[in-house]
Parts: sequence; structure tokens; C-alpha cells
Amino acid sequence: MEFEKIALNPGPKQIHDRVEDVVNTLVRGYDAAMGRLHLGGRKGNYDDLNFEFNGGAKDELRKKHYDKSLRLLWKAEGNTPWLSFRDCTSEELALLSMAEKTLNQDELREIKKIRSEEFQRKVDEEYTQAEKQAIVNVLSTIGHGEAYAWMVSTELLNEVKSTGARSALTMQVLEEAKHFVVLRELIQAFGCEVPRLTVWEYVLLERGFKAKGLEKFFAMNVLVEGFALSIFGMLSTLPGLEILRLFHLDESRHTGLPANYFKEFPMSAWEKRNPIAQFRRLGLIVPVLPLMASIETDLAELGIDTFEFAGSAARKILNLMNRVGFTLPIDNATFASLLNSLFNTYTSYSRVDYAERSFLSAETTKGTRERAVEAEVFHLGKAPAATPARPAA
Ligand SMILES: [Fe+2]
Ligand SMILES: [Fe+2]
Repeated sequence: MEFEKIALNPGPKQIHDRVEDVVNTLVRGYDAAMGRLHLGGRKGNYDDLNFEFNGGAKDELRKKHYDKSLRLLWKAEGNTPWLSFRDCTSEELALLSMAEKTLNQDELREIKKIRSEEFQRKVDEEYTQAEKQAIVNVLSTIGHGEAYAWMVSTELLNEVKSTGARSALTMQVLEEAKHFVVLRELIQAFGCEVPRLTVWEYVLLERGFKAKGLEKFFAMNVLVEGFALSIFGMLSTLPGLEILRLFHLDESRHTGLPANYFKEFPMSAWEKRNPIAQFRRLGLIVPVLPLMASIETDLAELGIDTFEFAGSAARKILNLMNRVGFTLPIDNATFASLLNSLFNTYTSYSRVDYAERSFLSAETTKGTRERAVEAEVFHLGKAPAATPARPAA
């Protein structure tokens, strides 16, 4: 390439460089001092000297989360063509259905309509009105949760250090956006009234959103997403809800993120055991208990014991907390047995056929693939056995 150079005098450039050097020292020095005094300073958590975000590259985090997310990125149009999403490229559409490629626009529109009616018909055949409403009630708890997951991950993006962790969080933001809009349409496709947040979930999500700094990892990635992962694992084998398998896979990556992050940037002993943080964590768990009771009738309509679900989710979440290093004011084993006693006390009033049982050893994730994914995320070793048989009436 031949460039026609422009001749310049060296003087102005030399003056500029000197001035820039002085101003740079003043501005950065002022920002650094203000930062040390916690009075502001540089807002961008970015290290332009090394062309990295503060914290360095951390390529392992990037590979485990960003690269993997992109590899497993799924499109709504391919998996739920009856919804309104048009996110597939023409190549993906061609791969999805070679036969459809021969159809013209009118025929494709007709196919979409049939698919939508097919979905309605399938749902109407498979479920009664009460069962459809129960599915909508349970799934909408996660639907609302996805809106908060989107907001929280957007804020966490600015809390984490390193290029690897930021790329991981960026993928999480993208996936939460997709979860919210796709789940919203899927729920609406059932044609039932969508309930608002119960006050228990409202408190849980608001507190989680307001959690300080990396405590958001506990509120969102461990607690809320551990709960969401368990719901997706429980419902993904139901007819019409097969797409929840893909949500389950994404959430498994999100729940694994804090452990991978703290491997690179370990929490201090104080951060783990600070009594105020411990009580705040406990305060986040407390609203989950009445939330479980609030969905008992809906899950019962679907043949699912809400406290077996709660026990199954609690066992996994406690395991994850152990792994990540988030502690509570009481040790996990005592807390687990306390939860079991609470569940037994409640069900002794709410159940016609009550018999004492170990709710925390139940397993409500149905699919084999989903169980294998959870065994890996929660380090459960061997996938647990099926849900223990219900006691006879
Ligand atoms: Fe999500
Ligand atoms: Fe998530």
C-alpha cells in the first residue's frame, strides 16, 4: 500500500506530548488519590496500561463461561417456532428444516400458524385448565426472577475483576435477557392469567438486587439461580416445556460462576465469615420458606410435593454454598436439619396423609441429562437416587 505522506513540523507534536504528559499525571494522580480516600476517582474498572480490565486476563474464566456460552448459545426460533422470535440466521433455518426451504413466504406463515395451533392443541390435550394455571403460577415465579437476574447480572458486570470474568458476565446478561423474553412468551402461550410476584419473592428479589458488591453472587447465582435450576430440572420433562432443558443448561453455568470466580480472586476469611454478611445471607433465605408454602397447591396440582422440591433444592444450594465459601451464622448441617424439621412441622398441618420424612434427601430433578448436569455443578458425586416413595395414606 502506497500512502501519500503529509509533511509536518515536529515542534507542535513535541509540545503536545509534553502538555499531555503533565495533564495525564495530574488527572490520574488526582483520581488515584480520590480513589484511595474512597471519594470517587476513576470509575472505569479498566487497566488501559495493560489493555485488560483490572484483575488481568483470567482466560480460564473466559473459556469456561464466555466461550462455552457461545458454543451452547441456543435460538428461540429453532426450539419454539410457535413463539414470535426470529433469531435464527438463514443458514440455521435451512439446517433446521431442509424441507421448509422449498416453501414460499405464504406457506411458511401457514406452517407457523399451524405450529402455534398445534402447541395450543397439545397443551389443551395434555393439561386441564387447573393444571395449565398451576404451570403458569409456578413458572411465572421464575419468569419474574429472570427479570431480576437480568438486572442483577448487569450490575455485577461492573463489580467483577478481569477480562475473563467480564466476558463471562456479559454472556450471562445476554442469556438472562433471552430467558426473560422467551419464558414470558412461553408462559403467555398457555393463555392463563399470570400472577404478580408474591410478597415473599418480591422481598427476596429486591434484597438480592440491593446486595452489596460480590454478595450479589450469593443472592443471584447461588440462591435464586440454584432455585431456578431446580424448577427447570423438575418441569423440563413435561409436554410442551421441553425447552426448559436449555434454560437448565444455562442456569447450571450461571450457578457455577461464583466458584470459578473465587478460585481466581479468593474471598478473604472476613468476607466469608463477616457476621453481618452471614445474617444478610440468612435474611435472603428466610423469604424462600413462605414462598415454598405459597406454591404448595400449584405443585400439588402437578403431583409434585413442594417440600420435596424445597428439600432437593436446599440440599444442592447448601452444597454450592459450601463449595463457594458463603457461610451462614449456623453451620450447614444444623441448618439442613432445622429446615427438615420446619418442613415436617408445616406438612403435619397442610397434609391429609402426613408422615415424617427426610425432605432434604429427596430428588425432584426428573431428566437423566439434567441430573448429570446438576451432579457436576453441585459436585454431588453419584447422581442421587429417585425421590423416595411417598408414605401410604
Ligand atoms: Fe436465567
Ligand atoms: Fe441465570
